Amino acid sequence: MADNDELTDGARFAAHVAAQPHVNYLKGAGALDWGMQSRLARIFRPRTHRTVMLAIDHGYFQGPTTGLERVDLSIVPLLPLADALMTTRGMVRSTIPATSGVPIVLRASGGPSVLKDLSNEQIAVAMEDAVRLDAAAVAVQVFIGGEHETQSVHNMTRLVDEGLRAGVPVLAVTAVGRELTRDARYLRLAVRICAELGAHVVKTYYCPEGFDTVTSACPVPVVMAGGKKLPELDALTVAARAIEGGAAGVDMGRNNFQSDHPVAMLRAIRAVVHESAKPEDAFEEHLRPVLSGT
Ligand code: 5RP
Repeated sequence: MADNDELTDGARFAAHVAAQPHVNYLKGAGALDWGMQSRLARIFRPRTHRTVMLAIDHGYFQGPTTGLERVDLSIVPLLPLADALMTTRGMVRSTIPATSGVPIVLRASGGPSVLKDLSNEQIAVAMEDAVRLDAAAVAVQVFIGGEHETQSVHNMTRLVDEGLRAGVPVLAVTAVGRELTRDARYLRLAVRICAELGAHVVKTYYCPEGFDTVTSACPVPVVMAGGKKLPELDALTVAARAIEGGAAGVDMGRNNFQSDHPVAMLRAIRAVVHESAKPEDAFEEHLRPVLSGT
């Protein structure tokens, strides 16, 4: 890899790992069993080791979500554009065609609704059922600094133990309560704890200052979480900055399905993540034509 002074440390490290022929495996995955690596390879594209994951799991704690009122119409057209779909087993069995071929990252923690303390989650899916559903990974929420921090970490470590037995990777989602600041210091703490305790992938939020220190402090891939709906170009810009900062992809929900043009938006995100397109160029190519037509 030609050294590039414009790259951040996180991006340089990710590119360095990807460029090594003898370590051409996903970051941190070289010592995993074959089945585990195979499942991860369904989520992350070969060589770039990046993913565009689509998050549609909001209903497990907040019920019906704007943009998903007609789940069949909202979700199914997006599936061919997603490298993986993060969702619940209820949605998988009720709504996602088994023939779609989309790798499933199965939400495996839950319990409290938005009316309660969200950190009070428990494991909500047996690993046996994740295997039955052919899940490519299971996802668990971890609330570092939250009221039920230890319980949520324990949920994760139990899933890691069960996942290692079954060959199913665990994606830890670092949930940030309203009382916590999503800065690099906090996010480094959260992602590192998840990885050290066995998570194979960590999903966390982008922070404008020092995001590359978050990805480089984490020995496994970091996937950027989405968040509330932004104007399309702003969302593309955040995704691009996360990739520049060493993220191994994005897992965005509302910024896709709450867009007036979710298919075009997902295509634009794919350009940013997989082709390192500039956000403005991805916007012009994929969104401008549909916006002009409205
Ligand atoms: C919750 C999650 C959800 O998958 C995520 O919040 C949904 O995506 P988005 O915020 O992009 O709508 O992990 O912590």
